[in-house]
Amino acid sequence: MSTELKTLLLELAKLEYRFTTVTPDTHALVLSRRPGARSLRDVFGWNLPFEPSILPPGLWQALQGAGACEPLPNGSWRATVRVSTVGHLLFAHSAFPTVEADAVFFGPDSYRFVRAIRQLGATATRAVDVGCGSGVGGITLAHFGALSSPVVLADINARALALAGVNAELAHVPAEVIESDVLTGVDGRVDLVISNPPYLVDRGERAYRHGGGAHGEALSTRIVRESLARLDRDGGGSLLLYTGVAIVEGHDPFLASIREDLQQSRAKYSYEELDPDIFGSELAEPAYQDAERIAAVLLHARVGHDF
Ligand SMILES: C[S@@+](CC[C@H](N)C(=O)[O-])C[C@H]1O[C@@H](n2cnc3c(N)ncnc32)[C@H](O)[C@@H]1O
Repeated sequence: MSTELKTLLLELAKLEYRFTTVTPDTHALVLSRRPGARSLRDVFGWNLPFEPSILPPGLWQALQGAGACEPLPNGSWRATVRVSTVGHLLFAHSAFPTVEADAVFFGPDSYRFVRAIRQLGATATRAVDVGCGSGVGGITLAHFGALSSPVVLADINARALALAGVNAELAHVPAEVIESDVLTGVDGRVDLVISNPPYLVDRGERAYRHGGGAHGEALSTRIVRESLARLDRDGGGSLLLYTGVAIVEGHDPFLASIREDLQQSRAKYSYEELDPDIFGSELAEPAYQDAERIAAVLLHARVGHDF
């Protein structure tokens, strides 16, 4: 399957395929306006029903070979994979809608995460992308940064790891793909952790979305604590965490919960709101009755450096 999926992605790359993934609400709205697929982007980005005859020669065989399509009752077909692009890099992830418990995420958060990684311009010996999903963070880091060993792509979701491995190969990025709950499955020295974890309270507890805790912050808190404990202090270690936090009465309970950990580990850190108001519709959920907004934030913590 992975070789066949790579063949499919290579075909799309040759055709200079590009697609930017939007929020589920926007995706649903765009779908409601279009009856069926007329372009590659309709098939692989919007996941619209299509007739095989609209695909360029070779692509239908590649898609079938990858087992990445399904027949619909009316005789048309639908891709069961979505392909998004960041610049010229292609990333395979789950088709819309991402309802399965093990769906592989990619979305506007991934783009914000990637922008932060590129701005970091990190150099590292061994970097880990915790909760890598499609691998977009770690692959971008390796592609644009200076890593002296393969990037570690870690996730609890085996389906995500399978796609991350293919996406890394396609980008010519050397990667170690590891099933791991935060850092527990990752051996050896780590001097950079990057992460865009799930940060919401999801009724279905889907792995890509559910962060646990009162407002979805529990996994982000764990990532901070476990990374600070694990990062190499001799050479200097860093954590770059992109996450979403519920703001309650003007206060940020996530920042309050990690402040002591940051102080105890004598970390130098910056913490900034990248977007004050994301996933506004979640505020109607019972878990968010005391929250006034959900903000996208970026934590950059450094330990053991010679400041
Ligand atoms: C919001 S998705 C982000 C994926 C990717 N980092 C990105 O930016 O597109 C969160 C990812 O974290 C993974 N995850 C959830 N709990 C985890 C845990 N305890 N340890 C490692 N990964 C986890 C999910 O399976 C999912 O792939």
